[in-house]
Amino acid sequence: MIDFNLDSEHLELRDMYRKFAEERVKPLAHEMDEAEKMNMDLIKEMQQCGFFGIPFPEEYGGAGGDVLSYVLCMEEMSKADASTGVTLSVHTSLCASTIQEFGTEEQKQKWLRPLADGSKIGCFGLTEPGAGSDVAGARTTAVKEGDEYVINGEKIFTTNSGFADTFLVFALTDKSLPAHKGMSAFLVDRNTPGITVTADIPRMGIRAASNAAVVYENVRVPAENLLGGEGKGFKIAMKALDGGRIGIAAQAVGIAQGALNEAIKYDKERVQFGKTIASFQNTQFKMADLQTKIDAARLLTWRAAVAKDKSEPYNVYAAMAKLMASDVANQVTRDCVQFLGGYGFAREYSVERMMRDAKITEIYEGTSEVMKMVISGSLNLK
Ligand code: CAA
Repeated sequence: MIDFNLDSEHLELRDMYRKFAEERVKPLAHEMDEAEKMNMDLIKEMQQCGFFGIPFPEEYGGAGGDVLSYVLCMEEMSKADASTGVTLSVHTSLCASTIQEFGTEEQKQKWLRPLADGSKIGCFGLTEPGAGSDVAGARTTAVKEGDEYVINGEKIFTTNSGFADTFLVFALTDKSLPAHKGMSAFLVDRNTPGITVTADIPRMGIRAASNAAVVYENVRVPAENLLGGEGKGFKIAMKALDGGRIGIAAQAVGIAQGALNEAIKYDKERVQFGKTIASFQNTQFKMADLQTKIDAARLLTWRAAVAKDKSEPYNVYAAMAKLMASDVANQVTRDCVQFLGGYGFAREYSVERMMRDAKITEIYEGTSEVMKMVISGSLNLK
């Protein structure tokens, strides 16, 4: 029996996330976008509310929730502000969840616990100036010297790097092998000597999020910081991204729903040609199409989340959800700017920010083209 409805526990959680997003996140969104800076008091408050530890067991300091709850939180936060959404997403799905999945008991106590209990923030260093979609083109190295690894290289577009405490970094431990077999994952504390985080990269959207290049110059980490064993890094990165894509799909659904809600509110009040814009059938039919697409994207996202919660294969579901939700977010936000006319184009109204924010959902954590590679790879076409 398939049930497409949330149970009472998830409905309660969604209401709580929604209330927080409306009251605490939304009033800051415009100001943070203009300042191109995250409000760290807001992040602290979210940590205190347990939002940075939703899908992690209580024994590791988490809230003991599931991936579906995290997805609901992602949608609500992103409805109000996509920068806040991605900050939560990279911390949760790319960094902390990966430690939960691949860490030893000692690593979970040392590295996962502070991420899940809200005392630290995580980030994920995979992309390099010369290796974006082609992860295997990475050049950063980690050379073993006694009981340590020495990391050298440069990562770029590392979300959260401006304020993260814990860096999950990927580096080649055996350059003679293809990266699929020669890459490893390391847990690195921000304060380790040799790490330089550049200023944030100026961007079109999600401008309040932190996103910078990180240079690793003779960064020495104890061998015990190796996550999942030598040579396992590529597959760890792929698994991390499979989970991350569910979070970004939820972010995209949130951006889309947030924009449509704003347009509905505006069009019910705005009078032109003697009647509200909402009373034109053109508006009604267009909005009907958009809400249908948002619901479809949300259901795909929930399907991926529930599959992950049930420990079923979810990588293709996650790719489908992200592909569709990011496309929908771009269509919806573009149309919502149009619904508001000149005001839609004005920075004072949030839909223009949402349109700029939507674009990145088609790019990060795997471009739409990479999503199609993953999905078509499951179709036995060869
Ligand atoms: N899970 C487990 N293993 C996987 C896997 C997965 N999802 N996907 C691939 N693998 C395995 C394969 O089975 C294969 O294993 P064997 O060698 O044992 O056969 C191995 O990994 C290599 O697989 P491929 O040949 O498919 O690898 P590829 O080099 O052709 O790359 C790709 C495939 C799908 C294009 C991959 O490189 C990819 O996902 N690229 C996109 C990268 C991306 O999403 N970057 C985002 C950066 S992070 C970011 O944006 C964060 C942020 O700050 C917001």
